[in-house]
Amino acid sequence: MDAIALLEEQHAEVMEMMELLKESSPGRERNETFKKLQRALMAHMVIEEELLYPVVASRTEEGEPVAEGYEEHSGARVSMTRCARALKEDDLFKVRIGVLKEMISHHVKEEREAILPQVRQVMDANERKELGAQMKALFEKVRRTGRAGAGLNRKTTARELRALS
Ligand SMILES: [Fe+2]
Ligand SMILES: [Fe+2]
Repeated sequence: MDAIALLEEQHAEVMEMMELLKESSPGRERNETFKKLQRALMAHMVIEEELLYPVVASRTEEGEPVAEGYEEHSGARVSMTRCARALKEDDLFKVRIGVLKEMISHHVKEEREAILPQVRQVMDANERKELGAQMKALFEKVRRTGRAGAGLNRKTTARELRALS
């Protein structure tokens, strides 16, 4: 599958899960949906950080969108942890999941406007298909194991600087 189509499909999935969570009540169903969201979002960020962003940063002059992407992912990780801590407190959870949703929605818009067009520019259809396959495989692996590399946050600053250089 084309890398861009894959990412947009995942964006739609996580937005939908957050919409469901905003309407949810404390309990098993909320916990399970939240766990699904956490795994999907973490795996999505991992494939972008490991496979997509480096290609874009190395092939384009403008490093700022990618550097911002790393930073926004970092913020989303913090926000997700805060949601997880509020699962049982309904009002607080709704505030926090609402904020996470706003952050992600802003971030997706930026990717769509500033990063994905660059991908289209620097990679032809074959390359995008190959990247899509790699991303899909890594996504499934990370989602399945649930090991989304909490350590990635530690690498963020170095990656931002690399994107900017
Ligand atoms: Fe992203
Ligand atoms: Fe994304």
